[in-house]
Amino acid sequence: MDLLKRMEEAKAFILGKYSEKIDVAIILGSGLGGIVNDIEEQKTIKYSDIPGFPESTVKGHAGEMIIGKLRGKTVLAMNGRFHYYEGYDMETVTFPVRVIKALGIKDIIITNAAGGMNPNFEPGDLMIITDHINMIGNNPLIGGNFEELGPRFPDMSCAYNKELRKIALDSAQDLGIKVQQGVYCPVSGPTYETPAELNMLRLIGGDAVGMSTVPEVIVANHMSMRVLGISCITDMALADNLEPLDHSRVVETANRAMAKFISLVKEIVEKI
Ligand code: HPA
Repeated sequence: MDLLKRMEEAKAFILGKYSEKIDVAIILGSGLGGIVNDIEEQKTIKYSDIPGFPESTVKGHAGEMIIGKLRGKTVLAMNGRFHYYEGYDMETVTFPVRVIKALGIKDIIITNAAGGMNPNFEPGDLMIITDHINMIGNNPLIGGNFEELGPRFPDMSCAYNKELRKIALDSAQDLGIKVQQGVYCPVSGPTYETPAELNMLRLIGGDAVGMSTVPEVIVANHMSMRVLGISCITDMALADNLEPLDHSRVVETANRAMAKFISLVKEIVEKI
């Protein structure tokens, strides 16, 4: 079925469960789902119930949409996302963002767990994403363009909205939370990087490496949404001193940074 029709179907289904205007959407990265416990008057919708949504396959990714109140705003939180490495095509990976826009939401906070390539970072740091280098090897806008949604050749001169970045930095300062800023560089995964790959990614200008976010950011920009990106640095991805890494360590470190992450996101949502 045509993308526009599938968007309409998913939108109608969600509106059937929650019809109030939603102010902001948040996509939660690995190990960062805890904020959903703070969402009040919440309505939970399983991805598997939403037309057009596949089921999430990764451990630590819940696969639910939670809509409710956070600091006086109405938020839609995606607890779990679809990754390219799971075998989904790019249209499926980014379908939730299409639906979020169809619901009339203009602001989206996209988060992830990432490896720190900048030697000034440390595990547990939060990084406000300033820009990205797409090393996934695919782009969600390849294929026919839907002019109704956005242009054939979208501008990416400022993919991470300046006003939202300022709000994020001000919020961090108000809360006394140290944040880093930098360039997020995703690869396809699911393998973590070799030291030689990390050397290259650092050399080309990456501060953090991950396996997500950029497809969603591209599609959100295609539809002229305002995007804020936040990485939680869960491990140091340093070519010269690379320790073996597994997903449980990523989730554990993200969990440890969760309280800080939750305070920051709440403050941002209030100020948006
Ligand atoms: N590399 C890629 N993806 C990641 C990493 C990493 O070191 N940490 C968390 N996600």
